[in-house]
Amino acid sequence: TDHYAVIGNPIEQSKSPLIHSAFAQVTGQDMDYTKLLAPLGGFAAVVDAFRASGGRGMNVTAPFKLDAFAYATDLAPSAQMAGAVNAMKFEGSKVFAENFDGVGLVRDLVHNLACPLMGRRVLILGAGGATRGALMPLLAEQPAELVIVNRTVAKAHELAALAKQHQTGQVPVQGLGYVDLQGQTFDVVLNASSSSLSAELPPLPASVFAPQCLAYDLTYGKGLTPFLQLAQQAGVTQLADGVGMLAEQAAEAFAWWRGVRPDTAAVIERLTVPLV
Ligand code: ATR
Repeated sequence: TDHYAVIGNPIEQSKSPLIHSAFAQVTGQDMDYTKLLAPLGGFAAVVDAFRASGGRGMNVTAPFKLDAFAYATDLAPSAQMAGAVNAMKFEGSKVFAENFDGVGLVRDLVHNLACPLMGRRVLILGAGGATRGALMPLLAEQPAELVIVNRTVAKAHELAALAKQHQTGQVPVQGLGYVDLQGQTFDVVLNASSSSLSAELPPLPASVFAPQCLAYDLTYGKGLTPFLQLAQQAGVTQLADGVGMLAEQAAEAFAWWRGVRPDTAAVIERLTVPLV
C-alpha cells in the first residue's frame, strides 16, 4: 500500500481524502490517503517524517503552499508560474512539485461545464495566488482577451505583465481597476478573489455580464456567494462554484502519482451543494 496525504492548518475540512479514496477505489489503486495537521512553522518537519515513513506524495493546502514551494527540489513550470505548490511527489531525495489548480479550473470550465474559452472575453477578479495560478492555463485556451481586475490596481498590472512575459500566444492581457470596467462586457467572469471567504461582494458593475455569460466562483461550499448573487440578479443563468475545479485538480495529481486519470463525475456529484 502506497501512502499519500494532504497537509494544512486547519485540515479537518479537507475533502481531498474523500476524493482520492474514491479515485483509488474506482481505478483499483493500492493506496491510502490521510489528513496531516502541521503546526504553523512546522511544515518541513511533518513532511520529513511522512517521507521517512514511506510517504509517496502529498497535496498542500493553506497556509503551506509557499512552504512547499521552498521545500521542493524540482518545481514544475505550473508551480513556478503560480509561485505556489499544491502537489508533491517524493522520489528518494527528490521532491517534485506541481500546481494543478489552474489546469483544474480550465478543465472544469471547458470539459465539465462545456464553456469554451477560445475566442471569448474572459474577466478574472483578484490578483492573488489563485489568479496567478490560473493565468497560463487560461491563456493556453486562446481567449479573445483576458482582463485581470483588482482593488489594488498595481497588483493587477503586475500579473498582466507577468502573463504577457510568459505566454507563448498573442492573447491581449490587461490589468484594470473595478471602475475601469464600466461599459465593458465579458463572456466568462471568474471570481478568483478571496471575497467569498468573508461573504463580501467585490465592487463589480453588474453590467459586465454579457448575455449567455458564465459566472464562476473559485471558492467551494459557500453556496450562492454575493458574487454569484450579483451575476444571478444581472440575468446570468450559468452559475458555478469551484467544486469541479477541486475535483479536477485532484484528478490531475492522482494521474501524476499513479499514471491513471480517474473520471471525476461521481465525485463532483457527491460533493455538489446546490447554489441557493
Ligand atoms: P489567494 O491566494 O487566495 O488569491 P491572496 O493572495 O490573499 O489570496 O489574494 C486575495 C485577493 O482577493 C486579492 O487580489 C484581494 O484584493 P487586494 O489585492 O486589492 O487586497 C482580493 N480581495 C479580497 N477581498 C476582496 C473583496 N471584498 N473585494 C474584492 N477583492 C477582494
